[in-house]
Amino acid sequence: MTALNETQPVDPTVDAAATAPGSLIPTLAGRWYTDPAIFAAEQERIVEAGWVCVALAADLDGPGAYRTVQVGRESVVVVKGRDRQVRAFFNVCRHRGAQLCVEPAGQVRNKLQCPYHAWTYDLTGKLIAAPNLTEMPDVDRFANGLAAVAVREWIGYVWVCVAPEPPSFEEQVIGAVVTRLGDVESIDHYGVENLRLAKRISYDVKSNWKLIVENFMECYHCATIHPELTEVLPEFADGYAAQYYVGHGAEFGSEVEGFTVDGSAGHTRIPTIDEAQDRKYFAITIRPGVFVNLVPDHVIVHRMTPVAVDRTLVECDWLFLPEVVESGADVERSVELFHRVNTQDFAACERTQPAMSSRIYAQGGSLVPSEHHIAEFHHWVQSRLA
Ligand code: FES
Ligand code: FE
Repeated sequence: MTALNETQPVDPTVDAAATAPGSLIPTLAGRWYTDPAIFAAEQERIVEAGWVCVALAADLDGPGAYRTVQVGRESVVVVKGRDRQVRAFFNVCRHRGAQLCVEPAGQVRNKLQCPYHAWTYDLTGKLIAAPNLTEMPDVDRFANGLAAVAVREWIGYVWVCVAPEPPSFEEQVIGAVVTRLGDVESIDHYGVENLRLAKRISYDVKSNWKLIVENFMECYHCATIHPELTEVLPEFADGYAAQYYVGHGAEFGSEVEGFTVDGSAGHTRIPTIDEAQDRKYFAITIRPGVFVNLVPDHVIVHRMTPVAVDRTLVECDWLFLPEVVESGADVERSVELFHRVNTQDFAACERTQPAMSSRIYAQGGSLVPSEHHIAEFHHWVQSRLA
């Protein structure tokens, strides 16, 4: 019988699944993080097929305020109407296709006008004016209006879906929270929609979006790269993350006063949280690109936008009670803790990305037992692309 030896060529088209024994189970093969064709399929069948969190509702602070956002391969304009309702449209002029808005954010009075030939739409998307339009009485102003995108507002954020038949928001988004926390009331207690933005930091991460999700899902790395976080949450030093068990929150260390970079006291506790949620950290992954972190005095929301197979933009919001933000309280020690965690995590993802194209990673790597649940994420991605 011929024994396998180290020099035997590996078949890069085969995932390591079939051969993995016991403690180690396989990751996705390297090409899942490097192949532009796989990335394009993910954009189409994951990002464009489901609900995507695109803006903090408070960022659209009055009628005519708009945001231009990327959803997979589509550009979308999210705008607040004069009736204060948030609507979203494909950023495509119905005349000859020019993009209506190119700035990431802006303010109009009561209409969106295409800069090319001046077709003009009201904030409900209806075509209201165009050069010589009155000489074309047969033109249906609704049928030639902007193409609408499905919108939901939830926990103070605007979520959109560009698919013609959006999946159930309750299943995809709220279901993810229930799967993690056990019930929806547990997030309702934080009244996230009533909190205010105290700080936003944008990160440009040179890694595939899945490396960021996988990283967020495990804490095997916490003892190595997160010294400040493991001081605050001692159980993380053992490699087990809060999101491993339904409803489980990681408890603050006994000497820790707050979720801050040095464990010093934080700010006013959100009054509606449960006693059982006090002095605890909960983390939720809402696929494909939202992470929510809940602590007693603030909530941290990450939104990811994959822009290339090896590049992902991440926007991170720190939300506190309105009175904390209005008082001008210094939230830097609170922000600094997760900013450091982000910087440490993203550096790890960027360190991993180049190796994804190595021949050594052609069949992928391994997941240890405390990472085994990541395989379910891999199966989810693969099933979407199947
Ligand atoms: Fe917009 Fe012509 S492309 S008005
Ligand atoms: Fe981490």
